[in-house]
Amino acid sequence: MKIHILTLFPEMIEGCFKSSIIGRAAQKEILSLHAVDIREYSTDKHKKVDDYPYGGGAGMLLQAQPVYDAWKSVTGGERVRTVYLTPQGVPFSQNMAAELAEEPELVFLCGHYEGIDQRVLEETVTDYVSIGDYVLTGGELPAMVMIDAVARLVPGVLGNDSSAEEESFFNDLLEYPQYTRPEVWHGRKAPEVLLSGDHRRITQWRLEQSEHLTEKVRPDLYGRYERKQRLVGQLLKDKRNHIHMIESLRRGRAEIIWWEGEDILIYDRKCAVCMITASSRKAGEKMLELAPAETETFVSSQEYLNEILCADGPTGAQREQDACGNSAVFRDFGGHRGRYEVHSQCYQFLYTPKVPLPVKHKDIRKLTLEHLDSVSGHYSYEGREYVEGRIREGVMYGAFVGDLLVGFVGMHNEGSLGLLHVADAYRRQGIAVSLEAYMINRILEKGWIPYGHVIVGNEMSFALQEKLGLYRSSRTVWWLERK
Ligand code: ADE
Repeated sequence: MKIHILTLFPEMIEGCFKSSIIGRAAQKEILSLHAVDIREYSTDKHKKVDDYPYGGGAGMLLQAQPVYDAWKSVTGGERVRTVYLTPQGVPFSQNMAAELAEEPELVFLCGHYEGIDQRVLEETVTDYVSIGDYVLTGGELPAMVMIDAVARLVPGVLGNDSSAEEESFFNDLLEYPQYTRPEVWHGRKAPEVLLSGDHRRITQWRLEQSEHLTEKVRPDLYGRYERKQRLVGQLLKDKRNHIHMIESLRRGRAEIIWWEGEDILIYDRKCAVCMITASSRKAGEKMLELAPAETETFVSSQEYLNEILCADGPTGAQREQDACGNSAVFRDFGGHRGRYEVHSQCYQFLYTPKVPLPVKHKDIRKLTLEHLDSVSGHYSYEGREYVEGRIREGVMYGAFVGDLLVGFVGMHNEGSLGLLHVADAYRRQGIAVSLEAYMINRILEKGWIPYGHVIVGNEMSFALQEKLGLYRSSRTVWWLERK
């Protein structure tokens, strides 16, 4: 990821990112951090960059010209994601960090004095962000806070894959307390359960600690957590038909956009997937109005929702007639109407025993980018970029015979298992069974329920799922992709 910081104080930025984890990622060229001195772009002979506000008022404002030229020097005038740090912005959050971590390039614009001329903000800025309800002297510290939170989510920046997932704010809970050696310090003993070696008890204890702590110090987060728990409880009553929603919520991926009885709309911001189930067409229409505009994919549980999402309706201010022939204002359902096409209709398969499966093929390894050509050449359902993202996230595994990659499996961006393929010459040797069993075991290790989606009619895959002990949903879901 490339990060440019536009500032009057580049030395503040440069000093901050020389050391520690971010410094190391920059050295390894996973990140490039580039501080741009706005003053160098001043056309004034004294390098002046500020002036008095029109209409009066305290302090000085940064002028448009040097800010614009500094911005243009890094973006070439293209609309690169540009964050302006300001107390007037939307509050920064872990969700926003995760979303920004997906960008290949970011620009941070640090204000100083009383602010920046509005006109240049309108021409350059895509996001106005505040790091909290207090006023600092400039945008540099907020930019550094944001960069730290974003950069650590970029694959490869933290050594350990799982550490970014298991901490504070993951799943709306604060992190549980941690202990290390010695066992007794100042007469205080580390909790006995942590020394027990019983991982199930340890996980349970940690969850309880997280819940208590969150309830006490962050009732706002706890309320959200509790609501999700209640929704999961309801969905569990028909687990096999709702497993995609259950796992998206449980794994801390999805947020609830709407939930009233059987009408549910949840959104996984990281992969821009909306999952929706509606008790009636009317309820579905109402929920679609609320689906985020950035939604790339809908997973819909009712066919009548597809009719709306795929319908070629009138455009702009055109009107349509209601059943009585009256002219009604055209409803575009939050801009979603007619924007999508059905990609597939699938059954869901889930593996509910908590016991890992035997894996016969012994040489299964995590794939790296060196396998990208081979994998994307054999997996036609998704583009190369998608496969690259899966490998970068560390969720693609390959079966090898010697040095030869003969098959692969992975986890899709919303969490279902899939991307399974075995080379023709190696079929009927149990490699697909081994690959899927291996993936299931990885997912079980995280404490999740492994599940996958299989296109209606793919009898070969149905047989494989059943052989592995997965069971099938009674109803299908539809995948709809933005046109
Ligand atoms: N600039 C000054 N104060 C700020 C804050 N709280 N967040 C972001 N940028 C700022």
